[in-house]
Amino acid sequence: MKENTFEKLKEIQQNEFIKTAIDYVGAGVVISDPEQEDNPIIYINKGFEDLTGYHSDEVVGKNCRFLQGEGTDPNALMKIRDGLKNYEEVQVELKNYQKNGRMFWNELQIFPVYIKQMNQTFFVGVQKDITVRKEAEELASHYSSEVKRLSTPIVPVEDHISVLPFVGTIDEERLQQMLDNVSHHVKESKDDYLILDLSAVHSYNQAIHMGIYQLNQLLDLMGTTLIITGIKPEFAIQSVPYADFSELSLKSYATVKQALHAIR
Ligand SMILES: Cc1cc2nc3c(=O)[nH]c(=O)nc-3n(C[C@H](O)[C@H](O)[C@H](O)COP(=O)(O)O)c2cc1C
Repeated sequence: MKENTFEKLKEIQQNEFIKTAIDYVGAGVVISDPEQEDNPIIYINKGFEDLTGYHSDEVVGKNCRFLQGEGTDPNALMKIRDGLKNYEEVQVELKNYQKNGRMFWNELQIFPVYIKQMNQTFFVGVQKDITVRKEAEELASHYSSEVKRLSTPIVPVEDHISVLPFVGTIDEERLQQMLDNVSHHVKESKDDYLILDLSAVHSYNQAIHMGIYQLNQLLDLMGTTLIITGIKPEFAIQSVPYADFSELSLKSYATVKQALHAIR
């Protein structure tokens, strides 16, 4: 550390009032000196010690990257490097590791601070532990994809015949999920027939018409015949502007039972 920087910082740190106030901030606070080789830490608060498990003596003089590990996203680091290079504020969420090896999600904010008294710019970093929020988000996203997956169940009813009942409202996202599920299922099962049952669909929209069109194309490529059951008259009328199903020569029956009977 440059002698004169050291002296001036000592002066600042000796200001008990400010030091105590920063220690009470419910987050980690780090100050680094970009004028020194590898931008080392020159100050940490108590919040940083509590969050990371490292004591001030162990980290002052080091670059903050010692908190990183296997799971740290290289894109977040690139964003930090870019920000520091241009002396701009950056905010990232990244995986860091405590002294005992435990991973935590760090909401890190770094900003340049010009100290007039010292005629120098320093970087101040603020670390917030957002592990609980991140884990809740990951869980919610897992459940959301589970719900979507379960909302388009494909039921094998006989050898090489499966039924896909459409229930409720179909939007773009559900449609994509359905197409993914079907292509995965048909690849594994090598079904000859897939019966798409629309008897539980209450409102028809453009997505459902396009869905049938795309599903038919997909199954055609995979050598599986699409059969539609449970079409209500209003669906047939509404489908005209979106897709010409007569062109697709789709087979359609009133019920799944009738379709199965006809296949046999
Ligand atoms: C003030 C300050 C605080 C920082 N705090 C953290 C931190 O808490 N966690 C972390 O992973 N990186 C932190 N960094 C980023 C690293 O020190 C380093 O800039 C980053 O790893 C990108 O540079 P590199 O590719 O040379 O490692 C901080 C940087 C500065 C300037």
